[in-house]
Amino acid sequence: MIVLGIETSCDETSAGIVDESGAVLANTVATQVDIHARYGGIVPEVASRQHVIDVRPVIETALSTAELSWSDLDALAVTHGPGLAGSLIVGVNVAKGLCASTGIPLVGVNHLEGHILAAWAVAAGKDAGEDDRKDRELLDGVLGDGKSVMCLLVSGGHTELVLLDSDRQFHLVGETRDDAAGEAFDKSARVLGLRYPGGPEIQRVAATATVEAEPLSRAWMKGSYDFSFSGIKTAVLNRARREGIYPKPEGEIPAEMVAGLAKAFQDSVVDVLVTKTLEAAAQYECGAIIVAGGVAANGPLREAFFSRSDLPVVIPPISLCTDNGAMIAMSGLARFTDGRRDGWSLDVEPGLRIGSRDRLAAV
Ligand code: KG4
Ligand code: ZN
Repeated sequence: MIVLGIETSCDETSAGIVDESGAVLANTVATQVDIHARYGGIVPEVASRQHVIDVRPVIETALSTAELSWSDLDALAVTHGPGLAGSLIVGVNVAKGLCASTGIPLVGVNHLEGHILAAWAVAAGKDAGEDDRKDRELLDGVLGDGKSVMCLLVSGGHTELVLLDSDRQFHLVGETRDDAAGEAFDKSARVLGLRYPGGPEIQRVAATATVEAEPLSRAWMKGSYDFSFSGIKTAVLNRARREGIYPKPEGEIPAEMVAGLAKAFQDSVVDVLVTKTLEAAAQYECGAIIVAGGVAANGPLREAFFSRSDLPVVIPPISLCTDNGAMIAMSGLARFTDGRRDGWSLDVEPGLRIGSRDRLAAV
């Protein structure tokens, strides 16, 4: 069984191909980062126009990389939400057109589920790790034993704790009440004079810090598994003002201060994300943890999970953490195997969610 996945929910145009063993046969990404960087963030109209330009070549490249043709595909999966409406429309309509002309079944995929299902993918090329297959077996073993997996989904638009139960149903355990973690990285980077996207920049600059800056506060949101990251963003802004980093000074920006503040910010976000995920996993007696989404590419976050967790932690390789088509193909494969087929009425759902609080009672 071979599934092609198309992803155009935000600012990456991507097509990925997986087979039934989860092997990633291709994962082509056309990033728009440089286009949006000059505006300091994503411009939705520009994003959707760029998807129109990139989507067909990206799909063709994925097929030729995998040395496959249309007749080899069993299903075509596409992200239909959540995301930017104008961007989602491009992928969904291209997928419908391709399915109509080739007769290949269409499967709509929830982008958030895609991020989590990336944990089952087996990367190829430079990302290939022996561990991928072990991770997959481990997760299937935990679910097969009737245990749940606690999933932390951290991206530019989402910060959610989602419980995946042994029936493979998702249940929302907690979510951000304001900014997503990635959004906090991006906005804080802007205050620090760093380019978009802010996550990798903050990680790079924080790694150069030589003196420990005064720690920034942590919003624990006690009594719930919800998050809040708007306060830390304001704390960064206030300290940046106090230290003369923001607004951008005329002369040289004091690099040591920027590095210290970037590290204090990163330490705070990582501490909150790891601590709350470990607590939730313990309360729900989970057998493993998955960390997924663009922010899961963060080195110190990955290290903190591996060093602090007693439970096994699965974090996809970086190319499968940030938005990509292979994770959509993975989720499409799971849905297709489950019997899901979508018709021409498949529409974009910009506000699509994953799991819901009221289903938690059944856990
Ligand atoms: O999942 P993703 O590619 O797109 C969304 O669905 O939002 O996540 C993008 C987010 C951005 O906010 C970006 O700054 C963040 O992931 N990110 C990182 C790192 N790499 C990407 N955040 C922290 N550290 C990183 N290394
Ligand atoms: Zn994403």
